[in-house]
Parts: sequence; C-alpha cells; structure tokens
Amino acid sequence: MSANKRIPLILDGDPGHDDAIAWVLAQASGAFDIRAVTTVGGNSTLEKTSYNARRVCTLIGLDAPVAAGRPCPLVTDLEIAPNIHGESGLDGPELPEPTMELSSLSAVELMAKVLRESDQPVTIVSTGPLSNTAALLAAHPELKSKIERISLMGGGIAYGNWTPAAEFNILVDPEAAKCVFSSGIPLIMSGLDVTEKALVLPWDFERIRALGNPVSSIVAQWLEFFYTFHRSIGYEGAPMHDPCAVAVLLHPELFTIKDMYVEIETCGEYCKGTTVADTLGLSGKKPNVSCVMDVDREAFADYLVESIKFYGEAER
Ligand code: BDR
Ligand code: CA
Repeated sequence: MSANKRIPLILDGDPGHDDAIAWVLAQASGAFDIRAVTTVGGNSTLEKTSYNARRVCTLIGLDAPVAAGRPCPLVTDLEIAPNIHGESGLDGPELPEPTMELSSLSAVELMAKVLRESDQPVTIVSTGPLSNTAALLAAHPELKSKIERISLMGGGIAYGNWTPAAEFNILVDPEAAKCVFSSGIPLIMSGLDVTEKALVLPWDFERIRALGNPVSSIVAQWLEFFYTFHRSIGYEGAPMHDPCAVAVLLHPELFTIKDMYVEIETCGEYCKGTTVADTLGLSGKKPNVSCVMDVDREAFADYLVESIKFYGEAER
C-alpha cells in the first residue's frame, strides 16, 4: 500500500501478551503508518511496559518513537495483573534487547506532536487503561479534531473480568475512560462481549508455530503462556482481547458491531469501572460508541495465522 494511503496510527498500550500480539498484527498489515508507540502503567508498572514495548518493537521491526506515559491512573493507585502476564509483564519466550531508547518526550507530548504534525486525522489504538489519551485531551483539547477515532479494548456490556461488573482496562482508570467516552471522538469498543469469543485454540497455536518464522515462534509461546492462566479458569483457548482492537479496523466484516450510548461508572459500590450501555435505547441519548459484540472465531484465527506469515517474507 502506498505511504499516503496508509492509516496514520498511534499504538497506546501496556504490553502484555495480547497487546504485543495486537502490535504484531498492526505491523504485519501494511495498512497502517504507525507514527508512535506509547506506554502506560496497566498490566505491569510503566517501567516494565515501556521496556516490553521496546522489546516488542525490536522483535517486529517497528521503527516508530516509543514514549512512556502515565505511570498511574488519573486519580487512583495503579492495579497490575501479574497473575496473567507474569512478573515481567510479558513472561514466556526470551525477547531481543531493545535497539531503541525511549523518546525524551512523554507519551502525551509525543501524541500531541504526531497529531499536530499530521495533515490528516490520526487513529489511536488503545489496548491498556485510557490514562494517556485522557491526559492528552485535558492538556491539548485543541487537538481533539485531529483524532480520527479511537479503537479501544476495554469494558464489557454483559459482564466484567476483574470484578463481576468491570473489565480490567476500564476498572484501572475509570476517570480516564469517562473522559474518553464523553469526548465525542468516534469510538470503537472491543469489550469482553467480543474479545472472549475471539479465542485462539491450542490447534491454532500449532498453525502459527508451523509458519516457522522468528515472530511466529514467539507468538506461539506468548499464546501458550497467556492460555495457561485462562485454561486454569476454564477457557478453551486464549482470548485475544487487544488484537480485536486492531483487527476490527482492518476486517470489520469479521465482526458484529452495534452503535450504543455507553457511560462509565466511576464510583459505584459494586459497579465501579462498568461500561453502562443503553442496549434498549432508554436514555434517549445518541450512540457514542460502536460496540463490537461478536466475531467469526474461525475466520479471526485464520486472519491471525495469515498475518503472521508476513514475518517470514523474503524481503525481511
Ligand atoms: C485487558 O486487560 C489486560 O490484561 C489485557 O492486556 C487486555 O488489554 C483485558 O481485560
Ligand atoms: Ca492490554
């Protein structure tokens, strides 16, 4: 795809196994002009997510500035997820040491620079707590119109995964989520409704491993690591939460999407961090979110396998 047809993109996340696989897909597609990678405290501390982000970028040949963002949510302390992603935040296979330094800019400054300098609006793929994007909107409200849309992994209309009502990314920083969800920016929300159906099965791990390229073997091991925890709580495969936020931009035909009005609960006794969706249209408010509700699982797994072939192509 010619450079000027590619979609300008910022990847903002907290890698994390599924963040890393999302970035593998984004880099493989050729459809994106990835202009910045920004990190946030989430699955692990900011120091670890920033190191992991640079290790992943080095592995996949993603040559964009990497900037560290908010170490903690806007108003609360950080909660991390070592039970899922391990002590390093990205446990499992050995990864290359980063070949790039962290940017001297903060994530917010780098995001602002990318938006300001872009001649067309930029898409943000957010796969961690929304702290950086909320901080960006607070610091640079004039740049809101330079954001084409935000494709985010977070929330769940039917249920949570960190509390009965709340999903991890939204629960960690509900105030940030509230700011983003009420911003008026077009939002695509890949919540648990779809991501728990986007399962990659052990059989798929083997298909990916069999591609026999340096990235495919790492992805297969990440999937195995990620699946170990999920198998222990009854899953049949590894849920590809964050990859949905990339895949829906490239292949919306694989997904079922419904526009709804969604608000964030920031202070409920039981429901803090819940994405409260007006599924029946009771609020009389216009939809502010395109909610991704379902996926063709097999086609999604095939897309994953096909994408990772990129890393074995001759020119690399
Ligand atoms: C989300 O939480 C994190 O652990 C994953 O990386 C994903 O972004 C799923 O709830
Ligand atoms: Ca994540």
